[in-house]
Amino acid sequence: MNKSIFLKSCMQRNYILFGVALILLSTPALAMGFKSLMKDMKATHQHAKDLVTGEYSAQAAMVVLKAYSDETTQAIGQMSTSAEGQDMKKRFTAMLVVLSKAQSGGQLDKSSFTTVAIQVGSQCISCHDVYN
Ligand code: HEC
Repeated sequence: MNKSIFLKSCMQRNYILFGVALILLSTPALAMGFKSLMKDMKATHQHAKDLVTGEYSAQAAMVVLKAYSDETTQAIGQMSTSAEGQDMKKRFTAMLVVLSKAQSGGQLDKSSFTTVAIQVGSQCISCHDVYN
């Protein structure tokens, strides 16, 4: 290996190490994951609103409740052990309780689903008031 190739490969390795260090030192990987999860939740919430304000289908409502639950479960898994993380975890867990209850009795009529969607919506807002 001639000297210039050797130097180049060393520099490349340093770039890689620098990149790895950056990822390890900051937590954007986790933050990005949570942000995109919030975007998914927003889309799910829009589906819920569409069912409430437009044509209702009990089957579609169950799909929405399942999506909310999956996203909420993922959010709980992403919470840190900090006081803030633990408080947010408690809030997401409360949301999951509402969602699980709503799914436990089988299909919902429009008015029951509306009540659940409003309850979940207020849980989004209440957390955003504090943390977002
Ligand atoms: C327990 C707390 C909590 C709950 C519950 C919660 N969020 Fe969030 N949400 C946050 C935090 C914290 C942020 C800021 C994230 C960031 O900027 O890194 C956020 C950000 C967002 C964003 C902006 C994402 C972006 O691209 O910047 C949207 C949209 C969102 N949430 C939608 C929702 C919806 C819809 C619900 C309810 C179905 C919900 N959230 C429930 C804590 C919560």
